[in-house]
Amino acid sequence: MESVANQRIARVSAHLQPPNSQMEESCVLKRTDCRAKGGAPGFKVAILGAAGGIGQPLAMLMKMNPLVSVLHLYDVVNAPGVTADISHMDTGAVVRGFLGQPQLENALTGMDLVIIPAGVPRKPGMTRDDLFKINAGIVRTLCEGVAKCCPNAIVNLISNPVNSTVPIAAEVFKKAGTYDPKRLLGVTMLDVVRANTFVAEVLGLDPREVDVPVVGGHAGVTILPLLSQAKPPSSFTPEETEYLTKRIQDGGTEVVQAKAGAGSATLSMAYAAVKFADACLRGLRGDAGVVECAFVASEVTELPFFATKVRLGRRGAEEVYQLGPLNEYERVGLQKAKKELAESIQKGTSFIRK
Ligand code: 2OP
Repeated sequence: MESVANQRIARVSAHLQPPNSQMEESCVLKRTDCRAKGGAPGFKVAILGAAGGIGQPLAMLMKMNPLVSVLHLYDVVNAPGVTADISHMDTGAVVRGFLGQPQLENALTGMDLVIIPAGVPRKPGMTRDDLFKINAGIVRTLCEGVAKCCPNAIVNLISNPVNSTVPIAAEVFKKAGTYDPKRLLGVTMLDVVRANTFVAEVLGLDPREVDVPVVGGHAGVTILPLLSQAKPPSSFTPEETEYLTKRIQDGGTEVVQAKAGAGSATLSMAYAAVKFADACLRGLRGDAGVVECAFVASEVTELPFFATKVRLGRRGAEEVYQLGPLNEYERVGLQKAKKELAESIQKGTSFIRK
């Protein structure tokens, strides 16, 4: 009885920790001799920072995306472990891991879409801007790699402060001579996801039926939900408007505080990033009418970057939509958003130009 149980435990633990070299030696069939032809047709996607808090669930969800044929997971630590783990999922995408900067170029070569969640997260009491010192340098290095190895890839930038890292990426690409504003998108989808969820809660609707445009940027007052343009068309009392706007603007901080030092939003961020990446891939495939909010180079306001609805196509953000009619509350919010946003954009731009 006991020996049966022991055998079972041995079998299970062997599976959990396959001793790689031994396995290759004792197996008659080597992996390189397998008949796999290399995955289904689809897009090649790299995640930079794939072993981090956002990166891991993001990698898992992208492995489940039927539009992805090849998934490259890059990080400076733990990339092999995450890659081995994710690679066992029986979905179409072929997964490859890349560890440390010497492997960055191989991770990026040939990619159609590069998603960047790399960097450090917030702790209670910190703003996204407090992350600038560390994350700015990380984003610069990674974008230099993109410019060199996959200059035509669409870039989805998640690393905070997004209001400054997108201008940093733009400057890096300009320096390298590869900048195409259509292909650089700051991910603000989590603000939309939160807005849909909180509005649905207030109105007693299914969040899947709600769509709230969120414009401006991705930090505090720069996050401007346009409740007057919510779908389905709804009216809100002044108290509801105030409550919803504040909660959407402080959504990230709500999670940072609840996690009490263990980081910021990772799971909802990964969900939102995948929703956005999927829209980018559908655009790349040539689907019509793919429209999402993103922080992009823009002429909608006097600022060089601004988040609004954009139409995603084969070349990235092919059309940047105007703000549409705003109510008085939103017009006041827009002024506040632009003031802070201008400083954050300037900070990012001068980090590279200095
Ligand atoms: C957020 O929670 C992580 O910035 C991200 O909004």
